[in-house]
Amino acid sequence: MGRKRNKRHNEASNTDIITEVSVKSGNPLTLSSEYNGIFKTSEKNILELGCARGEYSLGMVDLFPEKNFIGVDIKGERLIIGSRKAKELNLQNIRFYRIQVEHIDTFFPENLFDEIWIPFPDPHPGLKNGNKRLTSERFLDVYRHILKDDGVIHLKTDCDILYNFSLETVKEHATLIESTNDLYRSDLIKNDLLKIQTTYEKRYVLEGRTIKYLKFSLRNGL
Ligand SMILES: C[S@@+](CC[C@H](N)C(=O)[O-])C[C@H]1O[C@@H](n2cnc3c(N)ncnc32)[C@H](O)[C@@H]1O
Repeated sequence: MGRKRNKRHNEASNTDIITEVSVKSGNPLTLSSEYNGIFKTSEKNILELGCARGEYSLGMVDLFPEKNFIGVDIKGERLIIGSRKAKELNLQNIRFYRIQVEHIDTFFPENLFDEIWIPFPDPHPGLKNGNKRLTSERFLDVYRHILKDDGVIHLKTDCDILYNFSLETVKEHATLIESTNDLYRSDLIKNDLLKIQTTYEKRYVLEGRTIKYLKFSLRNGL
């Protein structure tokens, strides 16, 4: 780690807002030793996956200051930027964890989350079976452990392949609540939550790409 990065890292660690966790497959963590229970299942908790700088969480905390937010990403440097912003704003209800999405069910307690947001995940367009995509059946099974029964999942993407793949997976294994293949030309954009733009979304909008959105529940037969 370079000097500048190191400085940023220490600054973020001091805030207790970012927690570094090394989770290796085959070596699951015991929940209580790693997740310090800062947020309770009785509260309204929102999880952002592949959060990078935590921009979606930082946008949502403005709209819902009474809820709690957790951002997860594998890239610590990006989390540190979000962590620093949260510190500047003196936010007590947001935390960032450096952890792989693949292992979140071994880290967070069951039924902790009311919502999971997945803004612009890596689309893996070349994959044949798509099992690295964060909306594949494999990942839905992971989310099932940590999402409350009435919880919902939101996906935003610019990628047709990922969007269509997700629609198919949801139809087969979950329940679609709403979707659009052109968010900014749909009525759904009246919802302030959907107006939040991350770095990737801003870039894609500038490039003139259409943004797709879908919201679904893991319960069958709603
Ligand atoms: C395309 S970027 C989008 C970042 C941000 N959501 C946005 O919209 O600006 C995807 C992010 O997901 C993270 N990521 C990819 N695979 C991951 C995994 N398996 N576990 C945790 N984070 C992951 C990457 O580090 C990256 O920050």
